Amino acid sequence: MARVAALTVTLLSIVLFSLTISALPASNGRPTVTIDSGVVVGITKTENSTGLDLNAFLGVPFAGQPARWGPPKSPAPWTTPFDASKYGPACVQQFNYPEGRRNLILQWFNTPAPQESEDCLNACVYVPIAKDNAKPKAVMVWFYGGGLLYGSNALPHYDGSTLAAHEDVIVVVVNYRTNVFGFPGSPQVPLAQRNPGWLDQRLALEWVQRNIAAFGGDPDKVTIFGESAGAQSVDALITQPPNPLTFRAAIMESGTGTYRNAPANYSASWVTLVAAMNCSSATDILACMRAVPATTIKTYNELNRITWPPVFDNVTSAYAARSNRLSSTPQNPKIARVPILGGTNADEGRLYSISANDSSSFIRGLFPTATDQQISDLLAAYPLDGPPGSGVYTGTFTSPLEQLGALYGDFIFQCPARLVHLETSQVGIPSWRYYYNASFPNTDIFSDAGVYHSSEIGIVLGTYPTANATVFQEALSRYVQHIWANFAKDPYNWNAWPKGPNATGVLGGGVRAEDGPKASGPYLTVLNRTQTDLLDRRCGLYQAIYDALAH
Ligand SMILES: *[C@@H]1O[C@H](CO)[C@@H](O)[C@H](O)[C@H]1NC(C)=O
Ligand SMILES: *[C@@H]1O[C@H](CO)[C@@H](O)[C@H](O)[C@H]1NC(C)=O
Ligand SMILES: *[C@@H]1O[C@H](CO)[C@@H](O)[C@H](O)[C@H]1NC(C)=O
Ligand SMILES: *[C@@H]1O[C@H](CO)[C@@H](O)[C@H](O)[C@H]1NC(C)=O
Ligand SMILES: *[C@@H]1O[C@H](CO)[C@@H](O)[C@H](O)[C@H]1NC(C)=O
Ligand SMILES: *[C@@H]1O[C@H](CO)[C@@H](O)[C@H](O)[C@H]1NC(C)=O
Ligand SMILES: *[C@@H]1O[C@H](CO)[C@@H](O)[C@H](O)[C@H]1NC(C)=O
Ligand SMILES: *[C@@H]1O[C@H](CO)[C@@H](O)[C@H](O)[C@H]1NC(C)=O
Ligand SMILES: *[C@@H]1O[C@H](CO)[C@@H](O)[C@H](O)[C@H]1NC(C)=O
Repeated sequence: MARVAALTVTLLSIVLFSLTISALPASNGRPTVTIDSGVVVGITKTENSTGLDLNAFLGVPFAGQPARWGPPKSPAPWTTPFDASKYGPACVQQFNYPEGRRNLILQWFNTPAPQESEDCLNACVYVPIAKDNAKPKAVMVWFYGGGLLYGSNALPHYDGSTLAAHEDVIVVVVNYRTNVFGFPGSPQVPLAQRNPGWLDQRLALEWVQRNIAAFGGDPDKVTIFGESAGAQSVDALITQPPNPLTFRAAIMESGTGTYRNAPANYSASWVTLVAAMNCSSATDILACMRAVPATTIKTYNELNRITWPPVFDNVTSAYAARSNRLSSTPQNPKIARVPILGGTNADEGRLYSISANDSSSFIRGLFPTATDQQISDLLAAYPLDGPPGSGVYTGTFTSPLEQLGALYGDFIFQCPARLVHLETSQVGIPSWRYYYNASFPNTDIFSDAGVYHSSEIGIVLGTYPTANATVFQEALSRYVQHIWANFAKDPYNWNAWPKGPNATGVLGGGVRAEDGPKASGPYLTVLNRTQTDLLDRRCGLYQAIYDALAH
């Protein structure tokens, strides 16, 4: 019997093998890998700035089309080789009105606009053509930002080719559902499945574990990294870790998830949308909502600027994120005790204060219960036309854009990043903090934009525009790519600057777009504790708020 079974298996595998072989000629010498769902045929491309070749496998499904608001599931195996030569669809995105602001966001974060679909759970895998093929490569998995409202791996900005080719790492860029499709807050969806967007990320990381070796990657050397909501996602993965762990290090650019309160009413947005879609009195609300065209939902959400916060489900997002971190020990880890590299940009807030014309109402938007006295005290801490030294570090605030931008940047980005760094260090987990401080003429997207939120992405991934790039911009990007990749290759021994609370790595030498195309500076300067505290000197203003928000 055993022999018959073995023979059957052999025959079967010969049949399967020949099927695969017979399919291969279609690949015409293109790079081909076999993963658990079938054969994938990618493309070989030449990375522009280096002339280095790499293989790219674009739009590879790591899940099938999920039911709307359902959890993601591995794709059905395919029998015809999958053509991974072009991007797959983006998930359905939400770009809020008013039109002026919306058009700017579309220009910056959705050009060229990808096709959108609910069948969007795919990954792009960028594989260097080996400098050292014998050794499985370190892997970096990127989660895009976009406020958990939008984002897509088809954005040229998120192309992993350059980082992969330069640094001999595999870069994987995954799609995940956002806005109501990813974070519905619906009481009709079981609590454990109520953040489908974050379940998508987790399934993608499991897919990487099972399949990255086929691409030449090492599943034991996975670093997750992301910006803004992508970094918030990384923090959620750290503080509510998958078991078994699917990564061994993490990079958080301009975002955290720990100091977040539960919204007063999770289901308010959902109930509003259900009513607008005429589904309130349906016997099966979910079935009714699933029958509404995605574009109808999208348009309603965009026009009405509906918010979709993730829920604390204790599955993808720990309610007790902060206390779990603070009580984590090697014996009782509670969180993923992986090395972290994290930081923020010098002028994070300016993207959000562009059109602020009334300081008090801007601040009231951030702190709805603040008294008039508290608002004027807060403004006084960011003096306009103050003496030298009153500004974000050594300058002065010359406009409400700068002043309110600094306030927003401190409260939303820099001070929370500082806290995650300090609290991670405090429990004995290696944590390195950076401060990105450079801007360039060809990415200066509005007047006095400074080092705005998201402006480091092009430097990290090497996707800044080549047209009119400065010599320093190219060199800084190469430097930052190199240290980021070194972190992924050996996170415990990373030594670009000292870990812990006593040092901050300042990247970019304080170069500014207005200094012109010849401007340059040191790639890295290291601040000591005193200098770091000076940088953070306004964080105390917000500490009580973080303490009240975080659990
Ligand atoms: C790379 O080069 C190709 C061919 O010259 C060009 O079409 C493409 O736009 C370039 N990509 C970037 C990111 O510069
Ligand atoms: C949440 O908001 C919805 C819609 O406004 C309302 O029907 C529901 O009663 C609210 N729930 C709570 C707990 O306040
Ligand atoms: C809901 O019903 C109103 C009134 O009948 C109608 O105008 C509207 O188009 C409907 N909305 C949807 C999404 O079907
Ligand atoms: C999540 O866990 C916390 C304790 O860590 C608990 O207080 C909270 O009720 C849990 N929430 C859910 C939805 O299970
Ligand atoms: C100020 O900004 C608000 C919100 O962007 C806008 O509605 C209002 O018209 C502006 N007021 C002036 C005087 O520009
Ligand atoms: C490059 O700079 C020149 C001179 O400032 C300008 O005319 C041109 O439009 C710029 N090109 C791009 C692609 O930004
Ligand atoms: C930071 O510096 C302080 C004061 O110099 C020192 O006591 C402390 O041990 C340092 N911490 C670390 C983690 O190096
Ligand atoms: C960032 O760059 C600006 C402009 O050059 C400079 O004034 C500031 O001191 C720098 N900040 C840090 C922390 O290096
Ligand atoms: C930090 O560096 C500054 C400037 O070099 C120096 O004056 C100060 O003594 C240093 N502080 C510590 C704690 O090392």
